Amino acid sequence: MMNRPKLLDLFCGAGGAAMGYHRAGFDVVGVDINPMPRYLLEFHQGDALQYALEHGAEFDAIHASPPCQGYSVTKSIHGRTDHPLLIDATRELLQSIGRPYIIENVEGAPLINPLMLCGTMFGLRVRRHRLFEIDPPIYFAPFSCNHWGKTLGNSARIKQRRVVQSFALADFITVSGHDFNARDARIAMGIDWMSAKELAQAIPPAYTEYIGAFLLRYLK
Ligand SMILES: C[S@@+](CC[C@H](N)C(=O)[O-])C[C@H]1O[C@@H](n2cnc3c(N)ncnc32)[C@H](O)[C@@H]1O
Repeated sequence: MMNRPKLLDLFCGAGGAAMGYHRAGFDVVGVDINPMPRYLLEFHQGDALQYALEHGAEFDAIHASPPCQGYSVTKSIHGRTDHPLLIDATRELLQSIGRPYIIENVEGAPLINPLMLCGTMFGLRVRRHRLFEIDPPIYFAPFSCNHWGKTLGNSARIKQRRVVQSFALADFITVSGHDFNARDARIAMGIDWMSAKELAQAIPPAYTEYIGAFLLRYLK
């Protein structure tokens, strides 16, 4: 049997992206600056770009999810303007390593020709748009977005009323900030091992399982 190719998962969090690549057929190694006791695969604590510089060439492909707070449309709401902007440095390093790569981030981030994926494309009950810069590129999403039902969203009106998003109130939920029911969010995201805080930062494994399947064919 062929060995499973190795994928380096930079800025790995508690491993939403990692689980998708694992299911697609990769051996995944994660790196995060913070301890991640719930990351289910091999994990190293440390600076992601430093680790990639030292070990990136040992892997068949590299995924990176640099922090998104500095790029999100809500970046100025909490009055902070000092969020690190790591996408350019990440791209430069990954291109110099020369392996197939994926950089994931939020809408508004400066990614090149990104593919947009949403939970509704995978039959999930979460509205969550994420962008993926992929080299070699994938041009097609599995399906179009399907926002036919009711979503509470993160509108100011909802926040003022302090409504917690749950399936009791809507067909779809959004999982960010604090205003969501963690149990429903785990179902919506297809992630059953994370805390609420980790869920708010994660991507559903279905997204990277889709990307991983393409990548695997390319590597073969
Ligand atoms: C958006 S989260 C990643 C979520 C993950 N892709 C998932 O699907 O679960 C970004 C992560 O980057 C980590 N981080 C921030 N700066 C870092 C650095 N310099 N090196 C490594 N990790 C870093 C944060 O601790 C956080 O866990």
